[in-house]
Amino acid sequence: MGEWPAAEYGDAWAAVYDERHGDLPGTGDAVETLARLAGAGPVLELGIGTGRLALPLAARGLEVHGVDASAPMVDRLRAKPRGDSIPVTIGDMASLTLDRTFSLVFVAFNTLFNLPSQEAQVRCIAGAAAHLAPGGRFVVEAFVPDLGRFDRGQAVRATDVTEAHVVLEIARHDPVVQRVHSARVVVTPTDGIRMLPVNIRYAWPAEVDLMARLAGLEHEERWSGWQRQPFDESSRQHVSVYRRPAGDGHAAQPGVRAGRSRRPVPPIATEGL
Ligand SMILES: C[S@@+](CC[C@H](N)C(=O)[O-])C[C@H]1O[C@@H](n2cnc3c(N)ncnc32)[C@H](O)[C@@H]1O
Repeated sequence: MGEWPAAEYGDAWAAVYDERHGDLPGTGDAVETLARLAGAGPVLELGIGTGRLALPLAARGLEVHGVDASAPMVDRLRAKPRGDSIPVTIGDMASLTLDRTFSLVFVAFNTLFNLPSQEAQVRCIAGAAAHLAPGGRFVVEAFVPDLGRFDRGQAVRATDVTEAHVVLEIARHDPVVQRVHSARVVVTPTDGIRMLPVNIRYAWPAEVDLMARLAGLEHEERWSGWQRQPFDESSRQHVSVYRRPAGDGHAAQPGVRAGRSRRPVPPIATEGL
């Protein structure tokens, strides 16, 4: 089971993303907490998608920028009221450089795990750190892996069964590289079968901490949700906050400007779109 292109998830999901995830529980709390952490801004969202979080943050008066690998996802953002006012760079969040810094960089809703390898995740977090102003924060929202879901390396679950459709989740797990290759299979009597890929490389909270430490960030907080609830061994997801120490001297590398480019940004390393 190998790696996958950066745009795979977004290109496949763009047409149905808002219908399925546009109104995720906790979105309001996420916006509230992110706005608090951002202070005066500006803010950068990695994997901005259709703007579920970016649009309400911008509506609060924050300057919000985004990065996303999928032009069809960003087209959905653009089609929304004020969606065109958010500058988005199309490119791989593991490889981008923007020539400015932010008070907050965040990657929400497990999007860090869309990157297919530990190497890509390390580069992503190093890139996030390089784009923080001194004292700025990097926030990750992700699930805590639950390997009990898998039986001998595979899982099949019925996630939705109605008269109009059934949705099956079919997955294979490779514990060596911590990858899950899966698809949501949507079966309807009228439209037949549709497959939506969800390929991830998961990381434990401790591994994310180590990646952040490698990037020169300090761990500041870990909550089990956007209401800043305590995190413990029973928590199924985490919101982790890291901070770039004030006065550590590093700065964003010059590179591709934050803006509205529709072209893939030249990757720093070998992975591209
Ligand atoms: C699960 S969606 C989350 C969208 C949005 N952040 C939200 O919370 O609703 C993941 C997003 O990350 C984008 N994405 C996945 N891999 C990426 C990569 N390597 N670089 C940039 N964006 C990526 C997808 O195109 C998609 O828009």
